[in-house]
Amino acid sequence: MNILSIETSCDETSVAVVSNGGEVKSLVISSQISIHAKFFGVVPELASRVHIEKINPVIAKSLRSAKINFNDFSKKIDAVAFTVGPGLAGTLLVGSVAAKSLASVYKKPLIPVNHLEGHLYSSFIENKSLNPPFLALIISGGHTELVVVEDFGKYRVLGVTRDDAVGEAFDKASKMLGLSYPGGPIIDQRASKGDPLSIKFTRPYLRDSWDFSFSGIKTSLLNYLKSNPIKNEQHLNNICSSFRMAIAETLIFKTFKAVKEFNLKKIVLGGGVSSNSLIRHMFLENGKKDKIEIFIPSPIYCTDNAAMIGCAAYLKQRKCGLNYNNLQLKPSPSLILSNW
Ligand code: KG4
Ligand code: ZN
Repeated sequence: MNILSIETSCDETSVAVVSNGGEVKSLVISSQISIHAKFFGVVPELASRVHIEKINPVIAKSLRSAKINFNDFSKKIDAVAFTVGPGLAGTLLVGSVAAKSLASVYKKPLIPVNHLEGHLYSSFIENKSLNPPFLALIISGGHTELVVVEDFGKYRVLGVTRDDAVGEAFDKASKMLGLSYPGGPIIDQRASKGDPLSIKFTRPYLRDSWDFSFSGIKTSLLNYLKSNPIKNEQHLNNICSSFRMAIAETLIFKTFKAVKEFNLKKIVLGGGVSSNSLIRHMFLENGKKDKIEIFIPSPIYCTDNAAMIGCAAYLKQRKCGLNYNNLQLKPSPSLILSNW
């Protein structure tokens, strides 16, 4: 089954053609990072306008690189999927209008996909034999969720963040350090040249809950900078390295505690922050030590992309079938994870 999938929940206009959930025939991602970087965050109105400009060329490019032209669409594409939420209302609307137009013109079923499920199932693209039950950790710019996936589409959300999402903490720290947006990649790069043990930032473990909190680490960085202004490049690298370690250890502590407590054998990561080199390394090492299988997508499938939406759409229709009459579907900016 070939699915054309569209992702526009935030600042990436992305379109993919994915076959049977795992064979990515094409993936085009048009990022708006350079446009929003000067504002140190995504400006929703600006993001919507850029999606409007980009969506048609990105659809055309994705079809072209999958060697499909618009005349072949009916024959070669079986369904159209799109991110229905959560995300920015205006940007979601652009993707949903495009998806509905294609579905309506070519008389194809439409599959609405929860963006969080895109991240949650993104490991399936490269590991088709991965099956629930498993523990999923979704770590992105907008979300931090620890979820027991009992079956496809059957979730038990254990914990979420009480304040900042992990990616948001990296982005805000980067601003405090005078670095660029988004913060995760630049802090990750600098951290690799620094000493992770040089500064001891708080580890906010919230011991009686599966929730996370990252505002404490951020405040701890702010307080440190007040009394220790950045001296030189090496000092800055050491701060990045210690900050990255504090975040990685916080995530590792809670996730490995939960995997044991719920007697699971697999941990699946997803979301932009799972492209962090230390987080990847520490999860893999701890997994080896504790005999827990760890699944982390390649970096291209960690950050927002339409292939993960095509993959989640395939899994969803495999279980729930295809609905041919849902052109009334509206984007849902505050959508939460819910069972199929
Ligand atoms: O999943 P994503 O592309 O978008 C959302 O759904 O939010 O995640 C974007 C987030 C940003 O906050 C960015 O700073 C973070 O992922 N990120 C990273 C790294 N690469 C991206 N955080 C830490 N280390 C990285 N290497
Ligand atoms: Zn995302």
